[in-house]
Amino acid sequence: MNTMLASLPPLGWNSWNTFGEHISDALIREMADFMVDQGWLAAGYNYLVIDDCWSLRDRDENGLLVPDPEKFPHGMKELADYVHHKGLKFGMYSCAGVMTCAGYPSSYDHEFVDAQTFASWGVDFLKYDFCNFPESGDCRNRYQTMAMALKASGRDILFSACNWGRHDPWKWMRSRGAHMYRSTGDIMDNYVSFTDIFKSQLDNLCMSGTDCFNDMDMLTVGMCGKGNVGFGKVCTYEEYRLQFALWCLCGVPLMMGADLRSLKPEYVALMQNKDLLRIDQDEECRPPFLIRRGSVFTSNPEPKEGEFPWRELPDSSFTLFRHLSGGEFALAFINLSEAETCMHCELVDLGLPVSSGFALEVRDAFTGEVLGRKADYFNPTVPGHDMKLYLCS
Ligand code: GLA
Repeated sequence: MNTMLASLPPLGWNSWNTFGEHISDALIREMADFMVDQGWLAAGYNYLVIDDCWSLRDRDENGLLVPDPEKFPHGMKELADYVHHKGLKFGMYSCAGVMTCAGYPSSYDHEFVDAQTFASWGVDFLKYDFCNFPESGDCRNRYQTMAMALKASGRDILFSACNWGRHDPWKWMRSRGAHMYRSTGDIMDNYVSFTDIFKSQLDNLCMSGTDCFNDMDMLTVGMCGKGNVGFGKVCTYEEYRLQFALWCLCGVPLMMGADLRSLKPEYVALMQNKDLLRIDQDEECRPPFLIRRGSVFTSNPEPKEGEFPWRELPDSSFTLFRHLSGGEFALAFINLSEAETCMHCELVDLGLPVSSGFALEVRDAFTGEVLGRKADYFNPTVPGHDMKLYLCS
């Protein structure tokens, strides 16, 4: 038995964001083919996860969950075999309450029998939701019960607990056996949603790490308003790039939610960017830390008497720094305001020596461009709704 199912943040694809209830055997097989043929598996995305709405509305006469035969006419074992045969891992979904969020049977008081069912089908990953949880139930105990049931099933099954941040899961999910914990409500495919998620997790970054990661929810990168969670203004390329880079910087699971079959090439390139994935998947799994919030400077081209040629901006900018393995660092200048902003950070702010001869080699993590050596400070100009991300060594 592998006791380290999540030594690094899991990567993969999940059906919910785009397809919701419209899932089928054919769709999952096609997505498996795409994950292999388009280089996703080679890039590290190895989990293919079916979310809610896969079962019949009732258990069978033996109390077992039954895949909907119209959607999954060959059953789950055969589908799992297909997914495994492609070299991928197979994920499924249930819920800690008495019904899933979409009203299908779920695992409250059926934890052990359902874990056995999932194991018998060859499931490698279980997302475990929190809808319709009885008032009398104990959330922590129920997540732990499913963790134990999965362990007792005889199969290695990564446990993805999804209680949306209720009861501060970052404090206890790790000790209750989860490999990742959803820390927020559902992501929507717009800028406000993903930046709110990021901001809400700034105090919890250090709780996420090897064997139990903060799940900031599935990516919406490249969805462009299509699918199940498309509310609000459609993101620009730069906004999606910001989302992906923030998730990588935080070292969290990357579960894609877009339809891979129609993903534009720029989003394929973005989510397969080796430098960004290298940050997400760094073997030491250290969290980033906040160097500074706010205090950014935007130019004031016509200063009035007594004004400086810069203005201090409110809380919308973040400088984060992350130690990576091999003596590398990631340094992020994040501007969540609308206006272009000149940000500033001294090497001494990063806890690095400011002595003669010390300098960082810097390259742009988005483009790979070598930017040269820095011995004193950074002062990038960051467009609104965007970030600069540097790899330094
Ligand atoms: C909840 C979860 C989502 C998705 C849906 C399915 O809202 O947070 O990620 O799994 O349920 O119904």
